[in-house]
Amino acid sequence: LGDLRGVIALDGPSGTGKSTVARRLASTLRSGYLDTGAMYRAVTLAVLRTGGDAAEVARTARLDIGTDPLDPTVLLDGVDVAAEIRGPEVTLAVSEVSAVAEVRRILVDQQRAIIASVVNTQGGIVVEGRDIGTVVAPDAELKVYLTASADARAQRRTRQDTAAGRTATVEGTLADVQRRDNYDSSRAVSPLRKADDAVELDTTDLDLAGVLTSLLAIVDSRGLRT
Ligand code: DC
Repeated sequence: LGDLRGVIALDGPSGTGKSTVARRLASTLRSGYLDTGAMYRAVTLAVLRTGGDAAEVARTARLDIGTDPLDPTVLLDGVDVAAEIRGPEVTLAVSEVSAVAEVRRILVDQQRAIIASVVNTQGGIVVEGRDIGTVVAPDAELKVYLTASADARAQRRTRQDTAAGRTATVEGTLADVQRRDNYDSSRAVSPLRKADDAVELDTTDLDLAGVLTSLLAIVDSRGLRT
């Protein structure tokens, strides 16, 4: 079995296991990996730090996003912010910043450039976000839309936060998950939605291995390995 050829777009709300699935899929397929949420989070961190206008910050902040699925680094103006962008301050503010049309325009341009460059050099990339199949890469070779019940997503997110040393309760996380879902799905620009040609996969009752097995079967049925 060879390496991924082309783009896999992986969209869906938070807590579906999307990031873990995307990274594992990319390393299994020996492809690149792009976490677009990390880009919105890094811009949000810069906005919180500087108090500046979100569009202006997006234009001037220097983002370096690593595309190795085994080491997805996030540098903001040369400094590693991978841990800080997952903290509660950024998580609370990121929906608002990512609803700004100009911020999205700037980051989508950067995302398309990264995708083109990785496809050119490595042949394939797994890209995760909210609007990859609909806006960023509408010609992706495979579009996947992950879903899961709100309860399952809150439980996953709470486990992740606790494992990362952050205090979290399932109740508080459920409220946060629902708040962000509403915001991300109802914003005017590129709301979270399934692309018409995306494969929908409900991960409520699947573990990581189960999700990966399903996705690899689709990858192979479409002949996406070289
Ligand atoms: O996947 P995540 O939780 O790290 O994403 C953080 C936020 O960024 C999420 O609330 C929605 C936003 N986002 C977006 O609007 N578009 C993307 N392609 C990725 C993330």
